[in-house]
Amino acid sequence: MTADSPARAGTAGLRIGAQEVALPIVESSEGDNAIDIAKLRAETGLITFDPGYGNTGACTSAITFLDGEEGILRYRGYPIEQLAEQSTFLEVAYLLIWGELPSHDELDRFVAEVTHHTLIREEMRHFFDSFPADAHPMAVLASGTVGMSTFYPDAHEIFEADAVETTINRLIAKLPTLAAWSYKKAVGQPYVYPRNDLGYAANLLHMMFAVPSETYEVNPQVAEALDLLLILHADHEQNASTSTVRMVGSTHANLYASISAGISALWGPLHGGANEAVITTLERIVADGGNVKKWVDKAKDPNDTFRLAGFGHRVYKNFDPRATIIKRAAERVLAATGADDELFDVAQRLEEVALRDEYFVSRKLYPNVDFYSGLIYQAIGFPKNMFTNSFAIGRLPGWIAQWKEMIEASETKIGRPRQVYVGPGTRDYTPIEQR
Ligand code: ACO
Repeated sequence: MTADSPARAGTAGLRIGAQEVALPIVESSEGDNAIDIAKLRAETGLITFDPGYGNTGACTSAITFLDGEEGILRYRGYPIEQLAEQSTFLEVAYLLIWGELPSHDELDRFVAEVTHHTLIREEMRHFFDSFPADAHPMAVLASGTVGMSTFYPDAHEIFEADAVETTINRLIAKLPTLAAWSYKKAVGQPYVYPRNDLGYAANLLHMMFAVPSETYEVNPQVAEALDLLLILHADHEQNASTSTVRMVGSTHANLYASISAGISALWGPLHGGANEAVITTLERIVADGGNVKKWVDKAKDPNDTFRLAGFGHRVYKNFDPRATIIKRAAERVLAATGADDELFDVAQRLEEVALRDEYFVSRKLYPNVDFYSGLIYQAIGFPKNMFTNSFAIGRLPGWIAQWKEMIEASETKIGRPRQVYVGPGTRDYTPIEQR
């Protein structure tokens, strides 16, 4: 069985009045099976209704498995804990995109390709110059990503394997440069060019924090922690930004356009933007005297729109395995950098209070990946508005792998949900002078 030809496991019966319909069941290799409703409307005149798609499988996929009840996450079958402990971000990127762990030679070639595409076109300097100094780096990153397609006409060859591979390597190589330059623009420092003798995470740190007037030494523990964060963010099956990438890609828009749309979707505080919101909340709690219980109560108040950022997840209803790994990494990074750990202390107290609180327990709201990641970013010197930018760099291989799987699958159609119309019936137009 492949992702493209899922096995069938019998049928499910649906009775609508006197009509009996047999709907095929699509069998997974692990996890939820699905009822195939593709012919439901043709046979019954009915569609399904599932706002937020909580019960809708939009595709088959062989990339990432997650079990929210058990707190399991695997990329291509490999547990996230093993990859976090033993792999590197570029190896994980290769695994996600090309399906298997690379051999020595394959990894060397991939790393060499990515390393030698890190420069962005010099004309793009003007592009950064044209934004206001306080532009949010996510806006700059999303526009820079789709902007890159203007330089590479082969980006439109989405069914040509060589062109696709080059586009993939360019994207992985250049996104850190775009991200770092969006930061340099914001702080008014000269853009720093990539250094090909550095590893992927170390190079990002170099482009962000080096200045031409001084020598900058990358702290290897910090580079290692950043690499770990990128691994933990690398894929998460059909979340909002990945579904956006697939949706845009299903129109056969080029990969830069699809990834740019994914970056925009990631930006929201209910998704990748939560890491920024967590630190803002922790800072507000500290400024407010550190009364954690008061803020937990605020999050529970149905008349208050405030939510505890970094808590809750559509799929994880036990614990987020990434949060467990990140919390340990945060401890290491704070020790290595000597960063102020007042916020870490508040975060831990907040977690303790929330995890004992009936509201959070009954709704199965646990810390998610973003709860502790912001603390690491902050300890290594990232300003808050750069956190989600870094998340996007981590998620990039997942978006690419999901786009590639989608574009290669014979089951793929243009994404186009239906609706249940609840607006007015037909009525006659009234000229404006009679209204
Ligand atoms: N704080 C307070 N209450 C919460 C929170 C929270 N963080 N999260 C969910 N709830 C409550 C809801 O109000 C709702 O309560 P109700 O049943 O009394 O109405 C219940 O828990 C269920 O929440 P939903 O919003 O229905 O769950 P959904 O699956 O739609 O949303 C989401 C998931 C968006 C992640 C939500 O938990 C949230 O807003 N969390 C905070 C933002 C966040 O951390 N996002 C990052 C997620 S990880 C990622 O995207 C990388």
